[in-house]
Amino acid sequence: MKRQASERAVEHVESGFVIGLGSGTTAALAIRLIGARLKAGELRDVLGVPTSLQAAQEAISSGIPLTTLDEHPELDLLIDGADQIDHELRAIKGGGGALLREKVVASSSRLVIVVADETKLTERLGVDCPVPVEVHPFAVRPVYMRLLKMGAKPRIRTGTGKLGPVVTDNGNLIIDVSFDEVSDPRRLEWSLKAIPGVLETGLFIDLIDLAYIGTQEGVRRLEGSVKGNLLG
Ligand code: 5RP
Repeated sequence: MKRQASERAVEHVESGFVIGLGSGTTAALAIRLIGARLKAGELRDVLGVPTSLQAAQEAISSGIPLTTLDEHPELDLLIDGADQIDHELRAIKGGGGALLREKVVASSSRLVIVVADETKLTERLGVDCPVPVEVHPFAVRPVYMRLLKMGAKPRIRTGTGKLGPVVTDNGNLIIDVSFDEVSDPRRLEWSLKAIPGVLETGLFIDLIDLAYIGTQEGVRRLEGSVKGNLLG
């Protein structure tokens, strides 16, 4: 299902494109498919801006030349995964801890496509899916306390293969914040961003144009109506 969704998204890539490379297992499939199209000569002159060290490594092993937002601040396309997405194309991302770079790249891309399997599609955002919040290490305790006071259930993310908290590619920590339900994602985003020390949240609102959802019955295409990225 993930692969079929990725295949549909990769059809949007054209020669000469500068593309954002998403993070996670589904986005990695898309990266490999783009690499295969480059190797086969179906595409040429494609450059990628990775949203994480994982995406950079996938791109290097798939033969996609890398660039940066400094060199290419406006991208043609981003293909990325999601932890949860609703029918209005509002998503929760950051399961892999790459939310900050993913959101910067999404807001710098003309077209943002999410690829996911059907388990990610939800009627109610936030149910059984915490909202990851990237926090500066200096502020982690006060932010944690503020989240408790908001009535949320925060949990500092810890990893495997290393003791202690997960440190993001940007040197920050992640607090996974559980709510019973996220009824007003935009309002929640503002409230979280207003806490000093919060650098980014995993709520993606008005950023996603298109989603390909792999299901048992084939790939569903969901289209958004609002575009809120930096490029208008
Ligand atoms: C990483 C992300 C990923 O895109 C998200 O966690 C989905 O990953 P996967 O495709 O492996 O389920 O937001 O920060």
